Amino acid sequence: MARKKAERPDFGGPFPEHIAIIMDGNGRWAKGRGMRRVFGHKEGIGSVREITTECAALGVKSLTLYAFSVENWKRPKPEVAFLMSLLEEFLVKERPTLMDNAVRLRAIGRIDDLPSDALARLRETETLTAANDGMLLRLALSYGARTEIADALKAFARDLQAGRADAGSIDEETLRRYLYDPATPDPDLLIRTSGEMRISNFLLWQISYAEIYVAKECWPEFRTPQLHAALADYAKRVRKFGGLVSDAPEASESKA
Ligand code: IPE
Ligand code: IPE
Ligand code: MG
Repeated sequence: MARKKAERPDFGGPFPEHIAIIMDGNGRWAKGRGMRRVFGHKEGIGSVREITTECAALGVKSLTLYAFSVENWKRPKPEVAFLMSLLEEFLVKERPTLMDNAVRLRAIGRIDDLPSDALARLRETETLTAANDGMLLRLALSYGARTEIADALKAFARDLQAGRADAGSIDEETLRRYLYDPATPDPDLLIRTSGEMRISNFLLWQISYAEIYVAKECWPEFRTPQLHAALADYAKRVRKFGGLVSDAPEASESKA
């Protein structure tokens, strides 16, 4: 299959380079249809494929998907086991789609917590896709933002002890360098599905100035039209980063 050509519709304003998604509501989607929760997870894979392909075609540079949190290990053992086998299957079955769309896959999180088979498939898929020059797809696996910050602090303390770091020069950029994937710019747009208005320990450092969009649909029903609705909403946002909009009269007054 040939790589889909980018035909980006005009969303009427700025377009995000990095989109992060909290893929929520799989269980509710299934329950609402009289099915067990795991069917929601299975159906959710279809959304992962469609949203990844569409984002790549639209020219999104990075897509970060929250797939499994450090807190999700608390779920019943059979559900965790199902999610891990689904991940393993995904990492093999989606290889042609990733290659066709020139997508590079990378994981962030406490990856070593994953079962050995899933971890092996993950490393293989990362290696296979490493030279792709299209979109970066980051899967957050066994991910927690507080854990990420604690891990960063631990790594910094080690460097300090070894004389490789200097406590006096710590600034925001120093801390960023110790996070899981410092080279990827922060998300511009954070989407959460299923109407839930919380962050659930996702990218706390990196979303400081992300625009937040909550979709009412559960993740299995979040597809291309729902993504386009989020992008159209983003296009209308005015990002100020604490400053003033540069073309507003007040902004030039304050500069004078
Ligand atoms: C998201 O769906 C998938 C994971 C967190 C792994 P949920 O499983 O959280 O579904 P709800 O929120 O219970 O409906
Ligand atoms: C967030 O969803 C984690 C993922 C989407 C992987 P949860 O369903 O775990 O979050 P809470 O428990 O509703 O906050
Ligand atoms: Mg949930």
